[in-house]
Amino acid sequence: MSAKPPRLDLGELGLDRGGHLLVKHALRALPVGGALEVVGHDPHLRVHLQAWARQQALAFTAMPGGARLERADTLLGRWRGAERAGKSSPAGADSVLDEPPARWGLAARGATVEAGDLGFEFPLGRKEVLWADRAAELYRQALASQWDPAVAVDWSAPFELPDEVEDAVVQVMTYLIENETAALLVPARFLARIHPHFREILQLLAVQAADEARHIEVFTRRATLKRPELGLSTQGGQASLKTLLDEPDYALAFFLLSVLGEGSFLSLLRFLHEHAPDPVTARIAELSGVDEARHVALAMAHLKRHLAHDPHLRPRLAAAVESRFDSLREMSGLNEEVFDALVLLAAGRFEADAIARGYEAVLALKNDMDAARRHRLEQLGFAPEEAERLSSLHTRNFM
Ligand SMILES: [Fe+2]
Ligand SMILES: [Fe+2]
Repeated sequence: MSAKPPRLDLGELGLDRGGHLLVKHALRALPVGGALEVVGHDPHLRVHLQAWARQQALAFTAMPGGARLERADTLLGRWRGAERAGKSSPAGADSVLDEPPARWGLAARGATVEAGDLGFEFPLGRKEVLWADRAAELYRQALASQWDPAVAVDWSAPFELPDEVEDAVVQVMTYLIENETAALLVPARFLARIHPHFREILQLLAVQAADEARHIEVFTRRATLKRPELGLSTQGGQASLKTLLDEPDYALAFFLLSVLGEGSFLSLLRFLHEHAPDPVTARIAELSGVDEARHVALAMAHLKRHLAHDPHLRPRLAAAVESRFDSLREMSGLNEEVFDALVLLAAGRFEADAIARGYEAVLALKNDMDAARRHRLEQLGFAPEEAERLSSLHTRNFM
């Protein structure tokens, strides 16, 4: 003989005025198959209970003064058939699923998602392709390292440069802005296609885009500090950057942009920090370089993991460098305006010994870029000769 079911007396409270909360609360305490008697004085109580029970998929039996409800499922009402969208934080390797279904849509990782499919499409939805084991750590680092250009840079630091050297700085800034714009657009394009389950990757790429927005700001501000207009933009430089924007594959795009391009920019920003003829240029190169190191680190962490899971990726990376080289063959690469501007910027003066020193510094920069690229390629598992060959095919635009 079963025990008498618990009884909930709603008194004057109608189901349409909040009474359902008390009913739900009482039902939650019941095991599946358990029953609850609900009684009260509201004249519509029984009719309302009947309709509500249908919605919630509860068995309903009328009784004097109310009704008896029976719980048939572990989840009530529309939550039957719902599923848990993976585990919430921490973002340990096992809380992130290999292939979360697109039907989870925008649900927070770890949320219980009502059954249904609104037709969300996330073309980038596989952990193998997206994930980096350092994602959460790099995101924390990125947030802790944000800087405010208004505070971090002394824009009123006094300096006076020869006209040609100031022009050279403006030309280099113009070139940097163009490259930073590509570096903003590439992650931004991929961001909108990534399954939100990979939350840390979304967050990191969003901050990366914000970093680039800040770089664009400070380089623009330095360029226009003493001059009303910016410098030159060449077809060769833009053709190189367009190949980055046109690359549809996530791994290939970040290999070309972040490992090879931003990797080369790390050397360039270090060069600018060391050889800048003025304190503002030195400071903004230093600050941007710290951000760039993170962008490179994310791509390296992601590609190392991806390579470990996909034996076909390494030859695809090599082929991407080759085909980019072929498509840029007709282009002159780094424009002589930028090359000459770098020499002059490092020289600081229009005198033979200074120019000679500037020229040597730019040659050393190119060697430094090449060595760093080869090192990163070897870290990604390329043999030294292959790394050397691929580095030599890298765009002469640096990015
Ligand atoms: Fe940047
Ligand atoms: Fe970057």
